[in-house]
Amino acid sequence: MAIRNIVELGDEALRKVCKPQDKFGIRLALLLKDMADTMYKAEGVGLAAPQVGILRRVAVVDIGEGLIEMVNPKIVWASEEEQCGREGCLSLPGRQGVVRRPMKVRVLAQDRHGNPIEIEGEGFLARALCHEIDHLDGHLWIDHADRELTPEEIEGHIPEDDAQ
Ligand code: NI
Repeated sequence: MAIRNIVELGDEALRKVCKPQDKFGIRLALLLKDMADTMYKAEGVGLAAPQVGILRRVAVVDIGEGLIEMVNPKIVWASEEEQCGREGCLSLPGRQGVVRRPMKVRVLAQDRHGNPIEIEGEGFLARALCHEIDHLDGHLWIDHADRELTPEEIEGHIPEDDAQ
């Protein structure tokens, strides 16, 4: 188990467009394992490779329903229906905002062996998938949040919580 360092806002890796992952060998397997370990240790629900300084289109998500590994993920469909709720990021510790996302998305990706996989996400999973795929293009939630929460709101209740 290797915990990697998570870079924070200000690190240029977070603003780069990542390259496709074109090799599916032991290095990718190790990266995915380290990313999952790092995400769980930090108690996050997702982590993208640029957050550990690797500029490749690789991400992991686990919202408590099992680990999803995504290589070269792409959102191929998003619902018109939206959700509006709180969102944070391991690269922006202590900050949360209200972010609008599609209620449902369909993602095409590859697994660690290069096999095609399809992931359907609704609600919080859709939010997490969108958030991680955004990272691969250098986008962060602060770029398109409706508003940023105050420390009191982060600890407490906001109206948007009721819709989740
Ligand atoms: Ni993030």
